[in-house]
Amino acid sequence: MNIDQRVDILAISGSLRHGSFSTGLVHSLAKHTAHFMRITFHDISDIPLYNGDVDKAGRPEGVRRLNQAITRSDGVLIVTPEYNHGVPGVLKNALDWASEPFQRSVFRHKPVCLISLSLAATGGVRAQYQLRETLHSMLAIVVPAPEMAVGAVHTKFLGEDFVDDKSLTLMLGGLRLLRTHITTSELPAELKAG
Ligand SMILES: Cc1cc2nc3c(=O)[nH]c(=O)nc-3n(C[C@H](O)[C@H](O)[C@H](O)COP(=O)(O)O)c2cc1C
Repeated sequence: MNIDQRVDILAISGSLRHGSFSTGLVHSLAKHTAHFMRITFHDISDIPLYNGDVDKAGRPEGVRRLNQAITRSDGVLIVTPEYNHGVPGVLKNALDWASEPFQRSVFRHKPVCLISLSLAATGGVRAQYQLRETLHSMLAIVVPAPEMAVGAVHTKFLGEDFVDDKSLTLMLGGLRLLRTHITTSELPAELKAG
């Protein structure tokens, strides 16, 4: 890939809630990064609960739409809250669908950037570390970057805008690293997803 080229990032939110801080942060980051990447939000609310029988019989439209969007993207951004010290079920469920076939899925070698958030000071780090393990099993590449966990997220929005400069600088740095990874690393042909 040409390093001057703008990269296409698919963004998934771990919350389906209208007014979600996670989804709000995706949209805010899309505005702040528009000069160096295109972040497109992908709604996962149409994905049913995973069922192996359904998977075998033919994937639901929402799953095919997600898989296609991941395949077309240069990388994936996941912004998620923490539920009961773990990954929200809706997000884990979407990843379970997208993880098939095992280790040959659309996530294989896909560069991923993770951001967790919470109303609490802990910023959803426990969910983030569970997510890292899940993505590791899927052979995705979580791009090395300083940990991006936003605590007290409800104090960092002004209307729809994320306004905490310190967190914003950290996250923009992480997204630049994602871009650098995409534009500079070339996998050998035999390791590319296919
Ligand atoms: C079912 C449930 C469980 C939660 N568990 C945690 C938790 O373990 N740790 C935490 O920091 N916040 C927890 N929260 C609070 C969420 O982090 C907070 O509601 C957050 O704003 C949700 O993200 P959203 O705004 O993107 O929907 C929980 C919220 C819900 C609804």
